Amino acid sequence: MASSSGDKVSMPLFHGDDYASWKVKMRTYLMSEGLWCIVANGYLEPSDETTLPESKKKELESTSMVNAKALSKLQNGVGVTIFPRIIRARSAKEAWDIIAKEFEGTQLLVKIAKIHHDPKLWPNPEEFKPKRFLTTHKHIDYRGQDFELIPFKSGRRICLGMSLASESMLLTLANLLHGFDIASPTGGPVDMTEGPGFTLHKANPLEVLLTPSFPAHLYA
Ligand code: HEM
Repeated sequence: MASSSGDKVSMPLFHGDDYASWKVKMRTYLMSEGLWCIVANGYLEPSDETTLPESKKKELESTSMVNAKALSKLQNGVGVTIFPRIIRARSAKEAWDIIAKEFEGTQLLVKIAKIHHDPKLWPNPEEFKPKRFLTTHKHIDYRGQDFELIPFKSGRRICLGMSLASESMLLTLANLLHGFDIASPTGGPVDMTEGPGFTLHKANPLEVLLTPSFPAHLYA
C-alpha cells in the first residue's frame, strides 16, 4: 500500500482485497503524478491520424503519451491475478473502469465448510461417519438441492464439473482403497489441523504410507 519515502509516493498495489482503499490511494497517487485527468476523462484514439492538422497531431501525441503512462501505472499497480483482466485495455480509463466494475460494491463470500461443520445441521460434525448418508441423512441431495450440503455450490454458478468429479472421485477412491493399504507413517492419527484460507487447507502436508495390496506385476 502507499507509503512515502522522501517526497516520492510509492504506488499502491491491488491484489483483489480491499478495493475501496486501493481506489482512494491509487487516485491520490495518479493525481500526484499528474495522470488522474486522463484516467477520469478518458482518451479517444482517432481512427485516422493522417487527416489531422499538424497542431492536432502534436496534441494527440502528448495525450497519447500521458495515457500510456497512466495505463502503465495501472498495469503495474495490480497483482498478477488482476492484470489479465485489464490486459486488453487500450486506455487508462478503460483499465480503471474494468477494475471498478468488478470490485466496486460488496462481495459476499459464503464459507461452505462452515455450513458443513455446523452442529445445528450436523450432529457430531467432526466425526467421520459416511454411514450417515445411508441412514439419518439419506434424503440429502448434494447436487445443490439441500443447502446443508453443497460441496459443488448451488444455483446458476454451480460447479460445471460436478458429474465428472462425482464419478471420477468414486472411481479414484475405490481404486486406491482396493489397491493399497493406507496408513500414517507413525501409525498414529492423521494430522487434520486446518490452515488459514477461504477453502479448507491442511496446515501441514498430508503424510501417508501406501502399501500395495497385490503383487507388483498387477499394477503395471
Ligand atoms: C470434487 C471436486 C470438485 C469440487 C468439490 C468442486 C466444487 C466447486 C465449487 C464449490 C464451485 C463454485 C465456486 C464459486 O462459485 O465460488 C465450482 C465451480 C466450478 N467448477 Fe468445480 N469442483 C470440483 C471439480 C470440478 C471439475 C472436475 C471441473 C471441470 C472438469 C470443475 C469445473 C468448475 C467450473 C468451470 C466452475 C465455475 C462455474 C461457474 O462459475 O459458472 N470442477 N466447483
